[in-house]
Amino acid sequence: MDKQWLVEKTGFETRDVELHGSKFLLGNGYMGYRGTLEEYGAKELAAVNLAGLFDRNGDRWRESVNAPNPLYTVLAAGETVFSPLTAKTDDHRQTLNIRHGFHTRKTVFALGEGTVTVEAERFLSMEREHIMALRYTVSADRGGTFTLKTGIDQNVWDINGPHLKDGETALCEQTLCYTCRTVQNEVPLAVYEQVCGFPPEQTRESMRVATISLAAGESFTFTKIAGVYWGESVPGARQDFETAAAAGYDALKNEHIRAWEEIWNRCDVIIEGDEEAQLALRYSMYQLNIIAPKNTDRCGIPARGLSGQVYKGAAFWDTEMFMLPFFCFTNPAVAKNLVKYRVHTLEGAKRKAKEFGHEGAFFAWESQETGDDACTLFNVTDIFTGRPLRTYFKDKQIHISADMVYAMWNYCSVTQDYTVLRDGGLELIAECVWFYYTYSSFKKYQDRYELNDVVGPDEYHERVDNNAFTNCMVFHAAKTLIKAMEKVKELYPAVYQAFTEKRPMDWLYDFAEKLYVVQPNENGIIEQFDGYFKLEDVDVKTVRSRELKPNEYWGGHGLASTTRVLKQADVVMMLSVYRNEYSKEIKSANWAFYEPYTEHGSSLSACAYAIVAADIGDTDWAYPYFMKTACVDLSGDAKQYLGSLYIGGTHPAANGGSWNTAIFGFAGVSYTDDSLDISPRLPKKWRSLSFRLNWHGACLLIEITGDQVRITSDCPVETLPITVNGEKYHAKQ
Ligand code: BGC
Repeated sequence: MDKQWLVEKTGFETRDVELHGSKFLLGNGYMGYRGTLEEYGAKELAAVNLAGLFDRNGDRWRESVNAPNPLYTVLAAGETVFSPLTAKTDDHRQTLNIRHGFHTRKTVFALGEGTVTVEAERFLSMEREHIMALRYTVSADRGGTFTLKTGIDQNVWDINGPHLKDGETALCEQTLCYTCRTVQNEVPLAVYEQVCGFPPEQTRESMRVATISLAAGESFTFTKIAGVYWGESVPGARQDFETAAAAGYDALKNEHIRAWEEIWNRCDVIIEGDEEAQLALRYSMYQLNIIAPKNTDRCGIPARGLSGQVYKGAAFWDTEMFMLPFFCFTNPAVAKNLVKYRVHTLEGAKRKAKEFGHEGAFFAWESQETGDDACTLFNVTDIFTGRPLRTYFKDKQIHISADMVYAMWNYCSVTQDYTVLRDGGLELIAECVWFYYTYSSFKKYQDRYELNDVVGPDEYHERVDNNAFTNCMVFHAAKTLIKAMEKVKELYPAVYQAFTEKRPMDWLYDFAEKLYVVQPNENGIIEQFDGYFKLEDVDVKTVRSRELKPNEYWGGHGLASTTRVLKQADVVMMLSVYRNEYSKEIKSANWAFYEPYTEHGSSLSACAYAIVAADIGDTDWAYPYFMKTACVDLSGDAKQYLGSLYIGGTHPAANGGSWNTAIFGFAGVSYTDDSLDISPRLPKKWRSLSFRLNWHGACLLIEITGDQVRITSDCPVETLPITVNGEKYHAKQ
């Protein structure tokens, strides 16, 4: 296997178990299967994490549900259980093939004078979202008698569970089935499995147990097909599962490979001259593809993907601001599902606005299936006192609604599909902007609207006034509403008429004109919020040196709050989003000013620095930030705790951020509603960069070599307004 498609680890260390669960994650949009070994259970964080299914047990946090694990398999010889955690290993290797979505492991266990080898391959079908499959092989160089157990294991990871009740097992002919319901809403869940080539067995509860005797050098292989279904898919589940099982392992594997090939045909980015970056970028795209909701517009992408229940399985602004561009440009159907998910949760956003005394739509900071906010007012526990700390993510991080507006328009602008505006999108934009209008205060003597008492992306400074990022996003949201109304008037006059009859819009123009947008000072620096410059001028290292305990929370009344030190890109995030609206000097000055103060305590931070640095042509500044972003889930180099809150798992926003950096940063792709520009500035060692973009309905292949740009289109290029380095592109036939 080509090294640029393979993630691998040889040797076993217990401390890697948690990290590898995320690093070797499989997924197909419907569910994620952690990169655990077949014999692992809850303690090792084994989980089949379901997209879109949430549950609350008592008054604990509501979170996504993990299904019982139907690929659980364990081998034993007498008292020896073959797990690297309990038995001596001579060799161990775990791999993830990111081209075709396979997980493999090979472990050689020492047994007496000889060895026993367990090899397994598994995948989550990209073609049939409910289906997963396993091939499991045992060999023993000296032979022996073994007990093999496989089945549907209910002992899986739960943070605030249990979430399943009324479990029942049944064996119908060859199919083992486990059914249950969620605790809160009693949503049905069904898990099936069938084995092929398994020896005659006894079934105990939801496990099959058999004895195998191997002669010296002999090996034994069985395969398993499993299916996981919840909610409305349960009634037809048995039939769907039986059809897949009848197809068998090899046929399912082949169609799965074909589905992945199609995905890569659409989205692969090829870097020549930098193998490490190539693997990391592909790995980032792999992560995005395994969590993409292909077949539903009823769920968002959780902040930790489908790697578990961390962050309650909820969707944050991460999706809209960091991941959506990848989907808009490489898989518009998925992008549309994501945008529509927010339209479906608009009512929840309206309820939230009301709850806090406002009007319009205040989107959930942590969004689950209804759009009601899963975020609590006490999200972090103080590690000194053990007391919950009041945080203001939920009620003050108001930029979330403007992020939704940005995403909605971004989708329309890239795809030219305006039907989403007709089907609830315009309503969403209007409700969000109205929310800001009702939130804002009008300063008569300054003749401007301000947004006070907010939290920006930098969560270490709470309840500040006029956060530059927030105000800028809201300003653009108001402008977007004006554009969206014009578009709907032009394309869907009846919808426009109904819209304007329902709501007077006279307030909008004044708001859009007079909303305070923070401007650079005489040194070109944009103050992150009112009074930021007056805070203690110390850098990240100094603040860190003041810590009394590791994992101390720097926000709230913590160490960073009275200093200039920020958790994550804030002004620089704004400059990365609106990079075309600021001069090179302003971008450069702010980058250099804010960088020493930025902790990068969130994985969302580094990519903003990478994009802005690349944008101003400083690839030496950009490259390390790009690599930090692209490698976050390979290296595991990310914060694991916020106070005492565990926040480990995969980092899809960073995965999106690495694609954004490669395309918007290094390839220099920028776009407005009606033009696309490519102004490359590749890192020195990159000989070439090529990728595909869906833009305005066409699929463009863009190949950059040095300062040469070659664009091939599947439709006549004259119809697409493209410029290269600002020059109009001339088509070559
Ligand atoms: C960051 C947020 C982010 C969330 C989920 C937090 O640590 O500060 O910006 O949305 O993690 O990724």
